Amino acid sequence: MQDVILVLDAEGRYLKIAPSGAPLLYQPPAEMLGRKIHDVLSSACADYFLNSIQQALLTKKTVKVEYSLSIGEQEVWFEANIASMDENTFVCVARDISERKQMEDQLRQQTENLAQTLQELRQTQAQMIQAEKMSSLGQLVAGVAHEINNPVNFIHGNLTYIEEYTQDLLRIIHHQQQSGNKLEFQALCEEIDLEYIQKDVPRILSSMKVGTQRIRQIVLSLRTFSRIDEAEFKAVDIHESIDSTLMVLQHRFQETTKLPAIQVIKDYGTLPLVECYGGELNQVFMNILANAIDALEEWTIENAQLRIDNFTSGLLTPTIAIRTSVIDAGWVKIAIANNGIGMSEQIQKQVFNPFFTNKPVGKGTGMGMFISYQIITETHRGKLECHSIPAVGTEFVITIPIQH
Ligand SMILES: Nc1ncnc2c1ncn2[C@@H]1O[C@H](COP(=O)(O)OP(=O)(O)O)[C@@H](O)[C@H]1O
Ligand SMILES: [Mg+2]
Repeated sequence: MQDVILVLDAEGRYLKIAPSGAPLLYQPPAEMLGRKIHDVLSSACADYFLNSIQQALLTKKTVKVEYSLSIGEQEVWFEANIASMDENTFVCVARDISERKQMEDQLRQQTENLAQTLQELRQTQAQMIQAEKMSSLGQLVAGVAHEINNPVNFIHGNLTYIEEYTQDLLRIIHHQQQSGNKLEFQALCEEIDLEYIQKDVPRILSSMKVGTQRIRQIVLSLRTFSRIDEAEFKAVDIHESIDSTLMVLQHRFQETTKLPAIQVIKDYGTLPLVECYGGELNQVFMNILANAIDALEEWTIENAQLRIDNFTSGLLTPTIAIRTSVIDAGWVKIAIANNGIGMSEQIQKQVFNPFFTNKPVGKGTGMGMFISYQIITETHRGKLECHSIPAVGTEFVITIPIQH
């Protein structure tokens, strides 16, 4: 028999115990028979039992109790059913439920762990939403591009007239110079240095022209880069996208105290238009290129002396190489490599993990490659791979289908 059967009277005195050799008895039956449960069990446990006995008597129903006893080295949990046989006799059938209790404890622990994980996930989600807000910065850029486009066109269109008018004015002055009061006029001309102005006005105008042309170019790039109007799959010229991203990052390619100018090698194949989310794909190019520039900066800081020694040879020119090609009918490949610091195997394993960053607080978010991975693999059903050798360089390879 697995269960222990006890017969007690209304005062909690042990009348019978079976089976006599039950392995899980608190004490040998001989020591319990005739004694009250208050003399055998702890008073809290005994009170609980006696209350249950009274309840069984009052309700004429079976009462269930759960309690634990230390037997030997172990804490054993029991579930017992108590029922009255008559006014003064009660039967109690106790079953060892330690195993079930243990499982319940485990389950409770697991539930607690799950609750905590859920809490952490919520936090992560909140942080990711924050990161997404950062990407709406892209939309801001698009807005700015739109806003400055009009005035810049306005200035640009008017430059031609200014040029014409100025030339007319200069012609009048020229005429006056020859027919008016020569002495006075001469003095005036010298005072305003007319000779210099004549030479300088065309120079100023042409430099203004170059300036505005440049602004127009930037505006165009910003527009291509943000692709604000593209919230769906559209046929995109990948090279145009890469170039606009390069343009947006232009300021970071220039020579600084930390780094000589970064050389960008473009090895563009012949690509068809590719169906994609243009804005999101640009975000990927942006993340990979920005990381490449960081990796080049870090490398040159760490190897400043090596760079100075070797720089003239051109071997260590900080370089970003972009190669595009069509592979296996229907797929395009875009490889972006840099000869920067490179990554250890340890870092390579984690590069696509959310919040993984090696950069100082405030500089790195660790979201760039994570979001890029989602964009390429989930949204575009493509592949994003990372190959890297420490101190040699890193290459990210994007493969996406041409059509969806
Ligand atoms: N081209 C690269 N060369 C070397 N390390 C890189 C390169 N790209 C990414 N990494 C590593 O991967 C980490 C994660 O990149 P990313 O997700 O863009 O986050 P973040 O740039 O904010 O650190 C970087 O901190 C860096 O350690
Ligand atoms: Mg980054």
